Amino acid sequence: AAPAAEGPQPTPHTQKAYDPIDSDFHGRWTRADARQIMRTQNDTSVERGENSMPESITMPEIPKDFPIMTDEVWVWDTWSLTDEHSNQMSYKGWDVIFSLVAPRDIPFDERHWSARIGYFTRPSSADPDEAWTYGGYLFEDETSLSNTEWSGSARLLQGNKIRVFYTATTFGEKRPGTDGKPAVLATVLGKIKATKKGVSFSGFGEHVEIAEPDGTWYQTQEQNQYFSFRDPFTFEDPATPGITFMLFEGCGAGVPGTEETNATAEDLGYVDGDPFAETVDEVNAKGVQYQRGNIGLAWADSSDLTSWTMLPPILTAYGVNDQTERPQMIIEDGKYFLFTISHQFTYAAGLRGPDGVYGFVGDGIRSDFQPLNSSGVVLGSPVDLNLPADAPESPTAGQNPRQFQAYSHYIQPGGLVQSFIDNVDGRRGGTLSPTVKVDVDGATATSAVDYSFGDNGLGPYAYIPTNKRKGGVGHY
Ligand code: FRU
Repeated sequence: AAPAAEGPQPTPHTQKAYDPIDSDFHGRWTRADARQIMRTQNDTSVERGENSMPESITMPEIPKDFPIMTDEVWVWDTWSLTDEHSNQMSYKGWDVIFSLVAPRDIPFDERHWSARIGYFTRPSSADPDEAWTYGGYLFEDETSLSNTEWSGSARLLQGNKIRVFYTATTFGEKRPGTDGKPAVLATVLGKIKATKKGVSFSGFGEHVEIAEPDGTWYQTQEQNQYFSFRDPFTFEDPATPGITFMLFEGCGAGVPGTEETNATAEDLGYVDGDPFAETVDEVNAKGVQYQRGNIGLAWADSSDLTSWTMLPPILTAYGVNDQTERPQMIIEDGKYFLFTISHQFTYAAGLRGPDGVYGFVGDGIRSDFQPLNSSGVVLGSPVDLNLPADAPESPTAGQNPRQFQAYSHYIQPGGLVQSFIDNVDGRRGGTLSPTVKVDVDGATATSAVDYSFGDNGLGPYAYIPTNKRKGGVGHY
């Protein structure tokens, strides 16, 4: 384990729940929390470029000779067909996953601007190592709400109906016939069909915009060109059956540089008298007004999930980190686990952490969330945190060659975590990683990578098993 360095105490968090709809309380991932990474999860004595984090939060190394799923498309953000409780649903004997894809002949780092939602299938009975079959784009060309389709989620509803939620982003010229809004959340209803031979999708109806940033809770592009607004994830809470909620990635509203975007004492979160505390003025002088990630909430006010009421965010990372992406809520035994992914290069000045999964636990959807492992880090790509933060295109010489090995992790039932391979020692991935398993303990608000899973912690590539079925046969 890393020898504890000197540093501040974490912010005390009660985990107390507030009404998700009527309260405007939000949890805070504070600077004091994020500084626990360097205080308790970084070994200052490692050789340059070794992994400096404890094994319990490090994703095992992906071998450089990893296989790719298809020659046709780059594959990144991926999600399963689920029910309202994040169960992974098989349909008539088939497993289905959805991924952002782009033609493999465009440069990997330019994929975002050509992103479409694609899908893969395989028989539910398949061996975990059996390949997924690429099925092509989910939507017909020029039918979605914008020129690119970014991440979302997909719900299996009654019968053969599926409802897809996604982000419609516009880059460059807007597609004729679309509004050309920079980023909106969208939904569409369609049908899944399964035969002995395979799975297809059809009958997609009208794509509907369901949310856009309001400029009050959620930053607009006019307020900051580096705003984020994306990645809808829907779920029901067994405590309030019949209400569907949606999480999404946002940024706190306001124009950077104005008073409204300054970090506050609560965002810093130091306990009184902490000798390692920073002052609000000192922090704001570093320009942290640009790092205002939050996790947004909305609830469906129509039973067909096409009309939504926006609510204040449930978690903020103001003055801490600019991106809290692909949020997911996993509810287990009365505890609410909020997971999100983030990058090293989106941290605010004075903070350092890995690319990977961050997690929080509370007593309800809207809680005084406590970061798992004190800092929030649950699973990071191997990295030497003693070296400065890097962007993928310009790594520090001698840094760990796997610091960007995987991203866009998605938490599955049973603590299985899938992600996509980005860069393993210079080899770009664009394909799904080996699945890993993380054991989370709500009682102690801690987690640890399970090294007894798979091959010393690395499970099969793209291991995304279903745990519930509609139709078909099988043991679950
Ligand atoms: C995470 C992410 C998502 C977004 C997608 C775009 O990997 O940034 O937030 O939907 O990538 O490629």
